Amino acid sequence: MRRVFALLLCAAVCAALALRREAAVPAQGPAEMTQVYAALTFDDGPHRSTTDRLLDGLRERGARATFFLVGEEIGANRDLVRRMEDEGHQVGNHTWGHRRLNDLTADEAAQEIGKTDALLTEILGPGSYWLRPPYGFLPKDGERLVSVPMVKWSVDPRDWESRDKDKVVQAVEEAIQPNSIVLLHDLYPSSVDAALELVDRLSAKGYRFVTVEELLRQNGVTPQAGTLYRSGNG
Ligand code: NI
Repeated sequence: MRRVFALLLCAAVCAALALRREAAVPAQGPAEMTQVYAALTFDDGPHRSTTDRLLDGLRERGARATFFLVGEEIGANRDLVRRMEDEGHQVGNHTWGHRRLNDLTADEAAQEIGKTDALLTEILGPGSYWLRPPYGFLPKDGERLVSVPMVKWSVDPRDWESRDKDKVVQAVEEAIQPNSIVLLHDLYPSSVDAALELVDRLSAKGYRFVTVEELLRQNGVTPQAGTLYRSGNG
């Protein structure tokens, strides 16, 4: 009888210890997931209705993005530009008329960049409005001409071509890596839908979306005027 009691006692102690050990192992959840960072960038806006909806969706999800604006589109959408800045997004310059800067003289290219920079300064105050050259073509003598950092991309789902939400989501999911800079256009409802779905799906995999400037700084990169950046680590 004593032996049985001893065995029972042992079983009870072992069970209690096992329970304690289990309790000490934290449940795997989002808090324990390794966080990685990437930047969503939106070109060619602002555009009434699609940009509004994108800003609403990003705010709901706590995600930040970078917007490269075309000067011609800004005039009627000043409220959207202010909202971008108020909500923590980075505002950049995509030239005045979306022309290929490599086809222009240095004076013409400087004007294309300078007019948009002046309008952004008028709306938001003095700042460094980084440049994304249309089509990724740099102006001749770009390093001397451009007084801000320049941004290209490392993931291009060609959203303007397919205008298909599912194709855009799939293309980005296949190509994205930590520190990617993703090129999208907030003119298309399909691109806005894709962007918000991507934030949801990739957040569940540990991605956090930040501005291009934040992405570079997180990698210890000090952005330089006239230098072109393609991803968060250079
Ligand atoms: Ni563009």
